[in-house]
Amino acid sequence: MFSRPDSLPLTYQSGFGNEFSSEALPGALPVGQNSPQIAPYGLYAELLSGTAFTVPRTESRRTWLYRINPSAAHPHFQRLGKQITGQELGPINPNRLRWDAFDIPQAPTDFVDGLITLAATAAADQASGISIHLYRANTSMERAFFNADGEWLLVPQQGRLRVVTELGLLDLEPQEIAVLPRGMKFRVELLDASARGYICENHGCALRLPDLGPIGSNGLANPRDFVAPVAHYQDTDEPTELVQKFLGELWITQLEHSPFDVVAWHGNNVPYKYDLRRFNTIGTVSYDHPDPSIFTVLTSPGAVQGQANVDFVIFPPRWMVAENTFRPPWFHRNLMNEFMGLIEGCYDAKADGFSPGGASLHNCMSAHGPDNATTEKAIEVELAPSKIEQTMAFMFETSTVLRPTRYALECPQLQGNYDACWTGMRKSFNKESR
Ligand SMILES: [Fe+2]
Repeated sequence: MFSRPDSLPLTYQSGFGNEFSSEALPGALPVGQNSPQIAPYGLYAELLSGTAFTVPRTESRRTWLYRINPSAAHPHFQRLGKQITGQELGPINPNRLRWDAFDIPQAPTDFVDGLITLAATAAADQASGISIHLYRANTSMERAFFNADGEWLLVPQQGRLRVVTELGLLDLEPQEIAVLPRGMKFRVELLDASARGYICENHGCALRLPDLGPIGSNGLANPRDFVAPVAHYQDTDEPTELVQKFLGELWITQLEHSPFDVVAWHGNNVPYKYDLRRFNTIGTVSYDHPDPSIFTVLTSPGAVQGQANVDFVIFPPRWMVAENTFRPPWFHRNLMNEFMGLIEGCYDAKADGFSPGGASLHNCMSAHGPDNATTEKAIEVELAPSKIEQTMAFMFETSTVLRPTRYALECPQLQGNYDACWTGMRKSFNKESR
């Protein structure tokens, strides 16, 4: 039985990377040791590690779980008949790409059924870097799921979710994000009729807050605005399907109990969520358009210092005050590879064609920037303080080229005329005037 009536608001623990602890029954957490001969209430102690045991202490992520049944109590996994759409990478394609929003299926579809892989930095069976998926659902999951291939950053675009995890419950709505650690079992329940969103699967170092440098000790996403769940367990012996993603493939087994039977836990390898509307947005108060790294919410460091495996960057509502400045994002060709999505409203570099639920991909050295209409407007507008409102775009920016899947290159949502938004750009060069 659930230990808390679902009608009550959920409670959370605040902070980022903390040594959290939580118990749904008093005294369920062992005191002074992790794995006593007999844990309180007859629970099993189990470690879920998110890093190798011997990484530096600052990198270490692990959580101790005190549960009714050990996770090891499961039969053989069998390969699932229905796999994720878009497993196969497509042919190499250096072009700028953009997709319309993907519809939510009419047929009953749960969170796992509706997954589409759009792009990845490596083939699924050689997981590295990141993979990018979309989810679409109209039915709550009855089965449980975990991903052995990396942590998942969920970016809801439509519909509220309740994410039931081993460590407790997270309620999510568009404009919030959640991170689910590698291997953490969870179930996605819908709080609205349907749901849609983006997933960044991070195969590299766990996401963390970026360093702030000269910004100082406050700003961007503040640690206390991240929240982790509290312990919340089910004690049922009803059969439950458990699906895992392992090297890109879905495999299934049948449990004789609920996998959400963790009565107490402590550690820092936890699911967490963050409300993007709390982001302390920082930008210029003089001139020019800062590098988009100023909008980094979370980062997964790469092998080269400062060159992230993936940065999660947002473009939230904000004031534009720069003087004598071309205010939209400048034209650019970057080393890093940029996948963008839109949660709400419009993105300030595009007049149209980039809709909520849609996506774009600009890989290494592909030339891009504001479209023709946005450029004309930005050159001619009389500059005054103005506010960009009702918008929330984001970017998964990675140091490894993103390969679209064959499905992403062949689906009807791929726009055939994306390049046209930069055609006919006015030539205003005049060597007689400066
Ligand atoms: Fe860009």
